[in-house]
Formats: sequence, structure tokens, C-alpha cells
Amino acid sequence: MNRTDQLVRPNVRALVPYSSARDEYEAKDGIFLDANESPFGPLNRYPDPHQRELRAAISTLKGLPEETIFLGNGSDEVIDLCYRIFCNPGTDRALIFPPTYGMYQVSAALNDVEVIKVPLDENFDIDIPAVTPFLEDERLKLIFICSPNNPTGNSMDPGRIEFIIRNFRGVVVLDEAYADFSGRHSFIEKIGLYDNLIVMQTFSKAMGMAAARVGMAFASPDILKYFFRIKPPYNISTLNQEAALQRLRDFRPITVQTDTLIAERRRLAEKLVAIPVVEKVWPSDANFLLVKVRDADTVYDKLTGRNIIVRNRSREIAGCLRITAGTRGENDRLLDELGKINI
Ligand SMILES: Cc1ncc(COP(=O)(O)O)c(C=O)c1O
Repeated sequence: MNRTDQLVRPNVRALVPYSSARDEYEAKDGIFLDANESPFGPLNRYPDPHQRELRAAISTLKGLPEETIFLGNGSDEVIDLCYRIFCNPGTDRALIFPPTYGMYQVSAALNDVEVIKVPLDENFDIDIPAVTPFLEDERLKLIFICSPNNPTGNSMDPGRIEFIIRNFRGVVVLDEAYADFSGRHSFIEKIGLYDNLIVMQTFSKAMGMAAARVGMAFASPDILKYFFRIKPPYNISTLNQEAALQRLRDFRPITVQTDTLIAERRRLAEKLVAIPVVEKVWPSDANFLLVKVRDADTVYDKLTGRNIIVRNRSREIAGCLRITAGTRGENDRLLDELGKINI
């Protein structure tokens, strides 16, 4: 048994996966009387459970072999599968760096997994001295790192991320949902180096396909074999696989849109600091800004009253709103309405 196998829950290691009709006969042509589908209608057949075409396209895009690519029904499914694969309910633990993306904790609670919280330091970076004592904890199976982080927007220091990967005996899940907006190197380049690293990316942000629910996980085949084993066989619909494929066929608009959003984020940040109710705007590597305002609840309500919806994060970070960069016109409306607020 290798190190990854040892980290996997015994019931998952022993699991005989469901073998679907499409696993047993893969060709596209034939008279299909094997899956109790209807012979009628354009959507009558089950999707490809292995998402071969889409994974091949992602493989070309990322320059990684197909066996290092897993697709989930959004990254949220990948997060849930991480818990199900590695954490024995009621016994094992996961570690997060708050304030961060909420689903790590929700998914842990759902899977009856205790969460250790090591708050980010004053620069919203990983606090290495604070996390180090936990790295040898036998019951700690997963560490979630979000970089660029939601809701703070900054990237974590790559040296600190790598320190954790190198020194942790469990699995590091690095969530790069916003990496396309950062201009930094992705850790997908390092999945061949580390057998305990899972990098998550998504079609929901820079790719502009949140409705399609396609999340990506990149890791060694030794890890991913367990994801393929336990996932629901048809976790990504044919419609969504095709939509994602279509998006990849013409990649140029995605890069243009990403550049536009980065430029808008910069412009927004510059303009926001000049608005009287705005107290601070943090630098961001994502498609949103963390903004401290005078009386966040009132500002949030006033904006909502003007049909401009931002995210009120003041319960997690005092006085803060998280504002996504929209189109130039949308951002101008936001700036205009914020400028009118007098508190
Ligand atoms: C850091 C982070 N990871 C993952 C997700 C969810 O991604 P998906 O839409 O692929 O489930 C989000 C959504 O906001 C996010 O902020």
C-alpha cells in the first residue's frame, strides 16, 4: 500500500464501484438496449461517465495527461468527495484558514468531520508557526488552502503553500478557483512532484460557466482513482459536458474577458478608494475586491435598494463587503450609487 492508499478510508479502499452500462460498452454506434433508456428524443442517452472528450480538451489546454484530470459537478462536488474519500466521519479532521470559502466547513459538517481553524495572519496569508503543530496530527487528513482566497482576494505565499505540502502527512487541497485572474503560476505544474496534492480549478469563474457546474481536480492518478471510484457515475450531464467543450473550442473570448475583468478590478479599486464611505480596499488577485466601508449593513441595504447586489461579509471580516467586478457599465453604476451614500 502506498502513502495515498493508507490515507484513504478503509471502506472506500475496499469499495467495488458501480459499473454502469456505459462502462461495459463504450462505442457510440449500435442498438442500445442495455441501459433502460428510451430510444426516443435528443437527450435519451446517459452521459459519458468518464467525460472523455471534455477531459481530452482540458488535457490539451493545461498540458497534463488525462489521467491526472477529474471533473466534478462544480468544485463543490470535488470538496465533498475529498471528505468522503479521506475522512472517517466522527474521527478524522480537516484544517482551514479562515476567513475563507464557506463550503469547506459546510461539507465537513455534512460528513461529520471536525474542522480545525487556523486564522490567516494580519496580511491574510498562512500563519506557518500556528499551523505547524497540526501537521503531524494523525487524525488530520485534509488541509484546504484557497489561493487566491475568497473573500480576501489575495494569493497565499507560494513558499508557505509548498511548506505545508512538503511537511503534511495528509492531503493538501489547493483551491485555485480564481487563479486565472492572478497572473501567477498554478500549482498544477507540481502535481507530478507531490503525491498528496490536489489542485482544484473551475469553469465557474474566468470561464464564465457557473451555470454548467463543471469543477476540475488535478492530482496524481493514485489519488484520482478513488475519485473515479466513488463519484456518482453520471455526475456531469451531457448538456453541461457539451457546453464546456464548446467554450474550450474557442478560447480567445475567455482570455479577452479575463483581461477585461482584471482591468475593471484595477479601475474599480482606484475609484473606490476616493469614495467617502469606503475606508479600505485590499489588493486582489481575483475577480472581486474586499472593501471596508463605514457601516457595512447600511451600505449593503442601500445598494440592494438600488438593485445592486454585493456580498455582505461583515460577519466574517468587520465592516467588509465583497464586490465582484462586473462589466464597465455595471461597475460605473456601483461607483455612482456608492458615491451618493452619506452616512
Ligand atoms: C474559492 C472557491 N472555490 C470553489 C467555488 C465553487 O466553485 P464551483 O462553482 O466550481 O462549485 C467557489 C465559488 O464561489 C469559490 O469561491
